[in-house]
Amino acid sequence: EKGNYRHFMQKEIFEQPVVVAQTLRSYLRRVEQTVALPQIDFDLASINRVTIVACGTSFYAAMVAKYWFEQFARLPVDIDVASEFRYRDPVLEEGGLSLFISQSGETADTLAALRHCKAAGQTIAVVVNVPTSTMAREADLLLPTHAGPEIGVASTKAFTCQLAVLAALAAHLAVKRGRMNRAEEAAIVEHLVEVPAALNAALAHDEEIAAMAHLIAPARDVLYLGRGADYPLALEGALKLKEISYIHAEGYASGEMKHGPIALIDELVPVIVLAPSGPLFEKTVSNMQEVRARGGKVVLISDAEGIAEAGEGCLATIEMPKVHPLIAPLVYAVPVQLLAYHVAVAKGTDVDQPRNLAKSVTVE
Ligand code: M6R
Repeated sequence: EKGNYRHFMQKEIFEQPVVVAQTLRSYLRRVEQTVALPQIDFDLASINRVTIVACGTSFYAAMVAKYWFEQFARLPVDIDVASEFRYRDPVLEEGGLSLFISQSGETADTLAALRHCKAAGQTIAVVVNVPTSTMAREADLLLPTHAGPEIGVASTKAFTCQLAVLAALAAHLAVKRGRMNRAEEAAIVEHLVEVPAALNAALAHDEEIAAMAHLIAPARDVLYLGRGADYPLALEGALKLKEISYIHAEGYASGEMKHGPIALIDELVPVIVLAPSGPLFEKTVSNMQEVRARGGKVVLISDAEGIAEAGEGCLATIEMPKVHPLIAPLVYAVPVQLLAYHVAVAKGTDVDQPRNLAKSVTVE
């Protein structure tokens, strides 16, 4: 039931603080300040390589996870969309962990890739939202998200719950591999515990984002820029906008703009820049200024510090709470979801059942 919400997607966006907290509860031990995974009968310390495979929004969660697994656990990570992975004859070495991410647990491309890896002797882990799904049944290590049923075709709460599980998994792998000490693990747990409150703070900008939807709704093309672990969020923002508002949108790593896409910029192309303050901020802002110098209309999503430094002259700014870089991808998911949602509402499209799309893609 939609309750007081107009659409399931809207309801699911607003459920995120609760369902992310619910998901984290089963992966964190608050008192001990440790990360805890479900019981498994093999040793994760022996894993020497991780291959992550998924589709769509779940693939963007995989992209974020790659940054985290490499940074925290110093594990080599290979990622691919399932439809490519399965047919490129991937090299799967002994001792590898193959990780599949899926809301439904039924996506045909992802399932085919899972079976391929299983046949090749890989250990199979799945991050899945439907506990009775095929992927859940076929996994060696089941890492459930507790987002509850997701009805809107555009995935929202499943994505942030996937990120929550993947962050906990990154920390767990880091501990197992001797790359993270007790104090560091405790600090990660503390950052994750702060996520629900940060999601609430992000959701508080709903009305303001609704009010700026008319700036984006008339556009034919929209670009999204991000760097580091927030680059996949640029891709996710663009996918959400495409899916439900039918506006052509692309996400780019901010540093790639000058290698081609900047040729598209004029005053008719809004550019959404995701730039939390931190080590990558200055670089992203200089890419943003290149866009502005060519007449591009920028919507800057950053924290108070970032907006104070670079917000002047932007078409609009959206202020996020200041958070640790680890949790920024979860928090910055909210404004891109809300922006897509309100633009679609402004355009009058069928938000929960966008044209040509199905909730679960069960053909290869
Ligand atoms: O159920 P899955 O997570 O395996 O689905 C993967 C994609 O089909 C899905 O994320 C799709 O891209 C969504 N419509 C995105 O909003």
